[in-house]
Amino acid sequence: MKPTKNRVYIFDTTLRDGEQSPGFSMNLQEKIRFARQLEKLGVDVIEAGFPVASEGDFISVQQIAKEIRKPQIAALARADLKDIDRAWDAIKEAAHPRIHTFISSSDIHLKYQLKKTREQVLAEAVRAVGHAKDLTDNVEFSPMDATRTDKDYLCEMVESVIEAGATTVNIPDTVGYAMPDEMGDLIAYIFAHVKNIHNAIVSVHCHNDLGVAVANTIAALKQGARQIECAVNGIGERAGNASLEEVVMALETRKDILGFSTNIKTRNIYRTSRLLSDITGIPVQPNKAIVGANAFSHESGIHQDGLIKEKITYEIMTPASVGVNDTNIVLGKHSGRHAVKERLKKLGFNLSGEEVDKVFIRFKEVADLKKEVFDEDLEEIISDIIFREPDKYKLLYLNVISGNAAIPTAAVRMEVSGKVIQDAEFGVGPVDATFAAIKKITKTKHSLIKYAVNAITGGTDAQGVVTVQIGYNGYTVSGRGSDPDVLVATAKAYINALNRLETMKNLERRRPEDVSQ
Ligand code: KIV
Ligand code: ZN
Repeated sequence: MKPTKNRVYIFDTTLRDGEQSPGFSMNLQEKIRFARQLEKLGVDVIEAGFPVASEGDFISVQQIAKEIRKPQIAALARADLKDIDRAWDAIKEAAHPRIHTFISSSDIHLKYQLKKTREQVLAEAVRAVGHAKDLTDNVEFSPMDATRTDKDYLCEMVESVIEAGATTVNIPDTVGYAMPDEMGDLIAYIFAHVKNIHNAIVSVHCHNDLGVAVANTIAALKQGARQIECAVNGIGERAGNASLEEVVMALETRKDILGFSTNIKTRNIYRTSRLLSDITGIPVQPNKAIVGANAFSHESGIHQDGLIKEKITYEIMTPASVGVNDTNIVLGKHSGRHAVKERLKKLGFNLSGEEVDKVFIRFKEVADLKKEVFDEDLEEIISDIIFREPDKYKLLYLNVISGNAAIPTAAVRMEVSGKVIQDAEFGVGPVDATFAAIKKITKTKHSLIKYAVNAITGGTDAQGVVTVQIGYNGYTVSGRGSDPDVLVATAKAYINALNRLETMKNLERRRPEDVSQ
């Protein structure tokens, strides 16, 4: 029998499944900053990371567990006693800790990856849950690749782990293979065949390889699941996880037929999505549901005509309901420190006096170059100067010559571990010359994966936001830089990527293949 209560628990895995995907890695400060925003958003559970994966992951999970007090803080662990102990060490000081342990259950994984029998895997799952239960009452178990697992074996495993103490059983569509009807049927099957199912909350974790993660998630809810695992902007392994904002707004907008409620403060959705893009340097596609730049813009004349007459003609939810256009108060070069400080507070940044001073100096520089400074510009300034880790490389000076009658040349002066070094290089164009000069100074070896320029806020006086993604020895890191001058933004973004790569190397983060998950 399906549960009668219709409250849906939101388990956010942006900082775990999302952060582990290429280009989305974050440093400690960035993870904490994002976790604070998730708390404001009202998620029920934050999966903060996979502590055994690296020292860096352990520390960030531990810090989030200490600081974020309202949501439950989950740490992921393989069904291995040492993994579980490490996860527990990271979260034991959380106000509401949760251990999330998993092992593969499909014959495909058992045969080719684990090389174990069903009996062995079942015994390991039960032992892992029992061990986790000795540490905390709040234990989640996931049979990985559940949607390609023999149904009766899956039910046996679910029943056994609940018997061993699991309080949440998560059914992952690990490879994004299921179709919505199938996902719904699987959850219904579990409810019909697992006799102790009502002693646990059933959860789903759907990947988006076939573009149906959100539909699968909703299908599962209709059959009795009450926790959903999702990520902001839908980030995650490969094609990503079910997008938090899409599932939540579907439940909200179609309450009439679905009848579910969540704890999410939907007005914080847009800000959360923007913060993630700001931190990772990866913007969302313009036509992305809910948070894309075009999600609420109407181009067709017929649609515009209808909207002017009555919004409901073409608008199924208001932009304000997800926080779009909530905060467009504009500051300019005549705005004083007090106005900037007040605006920062409204944006949720409670900075110290010294930090406000730093932001204000930069604000004045930007305001001198632009007529209007938007909230997005302020957020950009903050990410740039407050939330950045101490850097090995710093840009001191950049001069670029280009044009149709000049050989593009960049002269760069930098600080490298405290030492001032300068050099110049030619390039095919000004961007290429800037990259070449910085590469020469820093003597770094890596591949360039992506270079992208965006503008925040319209107009030719917009700040250019540059994203640079580089790859080195299996790591992929993104860097971001903003400046009204696109070449300066380019140099900043490239140097930011190099600094982040250094942090990553220092943390000796293990590469994904070292940790099977
Ligand atoms: O996709 C998956 O199966 C996972 C599990 C660890 C829940 O991410
Ligand atoms: Zn996953």
